[in-house]
Amino acid sequence: MTPPRYFALVPAAGIGARMESASPKQYLPIAGKPMLQHVLETFAASDAIAHTFVVVSASDGYIHDLMNAGIHLASRVTVLFCGGATRQQSVLNGLHEMRQQVGDDDWILVHDAARPGLTLQLIDGLIDVLREDAVGGLLALPVVDTLKRADVDGRAQVTVARDGLWAAQTPQMFRYALLRQALERTKQCTDEASAIEALGLRPKLVAGSPRNFKVTLPQDVALAEIFLKGFS
Ligand code: CTP
Ligand code: MG
Repeated sequence: MTPPRYFALVPAAGIGARMESASPKQYLPIAGKPMLQHVLETFAASDAIAHTFVVVSASDGYIHDLMNAGIHLASRVTVLFCGGATRQQSVLNGLHEMRQQVGDDDWILVHDAARPGLTLQLIDGLIDVLREDAVGGLLALPVVDTLKRADVDGRAQVTVARDGLWAAQTPQMFRYALLRQALERTKQCTDEASAIEALGLRPKLVAGSPRNFKVTLPQDVALAEIFLKGFS
């Protein structure tokens, strides 16, 4: 029996509405190159990752140049022009398109294009914890702030206990067949882990890093630049 392999799947078919930029946010330059290029180059440089698949929209006009510009992308990354209306649909379409190249027990690491702070160490750490795991899991950060639930006037109505609360990041890592089944069965989810939870399974939470935050709003770009230029 061959040992399971590890594949990256990067949904990059969003429009980045909250970023309010001219081009889709995954193509915004951060520290000299598009954030999607940072992500794909990190996976391409990882010895643990057998191959990477990136899902873009059918009408994407930017990925071709990025693939030519990026280090080792041509041989290490396959572009799938099968983006869907939601992140979940983009991931599911990608899983369908890649099925010839992966086995049911191979691991899939789903990672947002909008998290350019991912490092080789974070990938290795996640894989190290989960390689023998029956379910799989995700990078996440324990919540440290005191949490308030707001009323309609934007006033704190109640303080929510933060015990046991984590903020989910990506990669989220599950075996191919389980992940596909979970996403096919779940009506709506914003991450893979919640689809797995809906099956009654409990994904393992693995400590991520603040640098792996999701670039969402215009002011996030400056913070991402600081992480990518100044830290490792
Ligand atoms: N994504 C996708 N297909 C969609 C929507 C999102 O592949 N239909 C991807 C995005 O490109 C991104 C990741 O899912 O890499 C996380 O989504 P998010 O940060 O919400 O990006 P957008 O949906 O593009 O941004 P917004 O919600 O502000 O429009
Ligand atoms: Mg979105």
